[in-house]
Amino acid sequence: MLTTAPRGTRDILSPEVEKWQYLEEKIRQHCHRYAYSEIRTPIFEHTELFQRSVGETTDIVQKEMYTFQDRGDRWLTLRPEATASTVRAYLENKLYAQPQPVKLYYIGPMFRYDRPQAGRYRQFYQFGIEVIGSQDPAVDAEVILLAVHLFADLGLRDLEVQLNSIGCPQCRRAYRQELRSYLQGHLEELCSDCRTRYEQNPLRVLDCKEERCRKVAGEAPALSSYLCQECREHFELVQGYLQSLDVKYQLNPNLVRGLDYYTKTVFEIVSRELGAQAAICGGGRYDGLVEECGGQPTPGIGFALGMERLLMALEKGGSKLPGRAPLDVFLVALGSRAQGAALKLLYQMRQQNLRADKDYLGRSLKAQMKYADKKEARYVVILGEDELERNVVLIREMATGEQEEVPLEEAVEKILAELGGVTDGR
Ligand code: HAM
Repeated sequence: MLTTAPRGTRDILSPEVEKWQYLEEKIRQHCHRYAYSEIRTPIFEHTELFQRSVGETTDIVQKEMYTFQDRGDRWLTLRPEATASTVRAYLENKLYAQPQPVKLYYIGPMFRYDRPQAGRYRQFYQFGIEVIGSQDPAVDAEVILLAVHLFADLGLRDLEVQLNSIGCPQCRRAYRQELRSYLQGHLEELCSDCRTRYEQNPLRVLDCKEERCRKVAGEAPALSSYLCQECREHFELVQGYLQSLDVKYQLNPNLVRGLDYYTKTVFEIVSRELGAQAAICGGGRYDGLVEECGGQPTPGIGFALGMERLLMALEKGGSKLPGRAPLDVFLVALGSRAQGAALKLLYQMRQQNLRADKDYLGRSLKAQMKYADKKEARYVVILGEDELERNVVLIREMATGEQEEVPLEEAVEKILAELGGVTDGR
């Protein structure tokens, strides 16, 4: 127990963590270009926020939340997603008083008590964006484009954008009745959860992962045929914009998404590289959510993508991602008298943005060279008692084995010149 992380959680270490840093940097670049600013919300929120927004009858709320009572008897939940938190923050911080729409993004851990498997964790990371305050269908297109653009930039191919419109509460009212009467004839074929869903929220049946329920859902009347005029026109405009942006998409009439707050446009981006957990990214409009959380009627739209799944898809697709960062310099200091001068030299190198390190275990020269090799150091600088006496160091280029003696005070400059001076920003 003491040495095992809880089921469904994991440590992210080098050289994997460098890939995460690379992805996060790319994500931030894209958000910057599309004029989104970052929001960091608490890891836990009042349980009621998720019950109200994600929906009482969803799998997330019914089965997957990490909910606890704190010492002050408050019911709190580790966030299973961040749209609800973003909307809460929008209201609490009066972001509605700022010029609209408000465009936000986040990268951070989410928590769902799900059955762990490849691409599915109990603590996982999402990158997500939310645009609150505009119902313009061009925003829907921008949100989808940002994801598609990011994936293209990362070299991710074999993706499919699946698109649907689930309309507004008005169109859904008529559809719900139609769906219920269809499902009534198939109750026997549904799983026990879906029989309850049939009573409480029949749309959820369309989202069930059970094979037999998917079969029934596949034949169900399509929600898109029940859209009111406004929702239909909105959806047509979204599609028109996507076409003019050359974003390829597939209409999927069964796409309803597993959260209750959605209205109108919903979409998922699935990777053919991934097996069971194919959905890398999912999102849609939530024009009723701000009001549901106590604000004025305010439209919103966004998506979230699973960072672990994105990495899996990139790796399966053969993308080259950065690995462990090598050392620029390993400083071999020999003898106790050289240690002080070595520390100073090391500090000077780091001031010049060189990635530099030294031995701290009193290793022999041979062992230090071996260590430098393991750390993929490009240069080794040797400072022994003899060098110290003569105020020089020995610089060795590891790839070629070439060695050169240079005055101590020129060592940093020499290495910088060899490296071309460009060492920052990695
Ligand atoms: P979601 O579809 O529940 O949507 O999650 C979005 C993405 O998070 C999924 O497509 C998947 O890549 C990843 N994900 C979900 N659960 C897990 C898990 N257990 N392990 C690993 N990855 C997972 C939302 O969360 C909405 N808040 C998206 C949104 C934002 N809609 C509007 N704005």
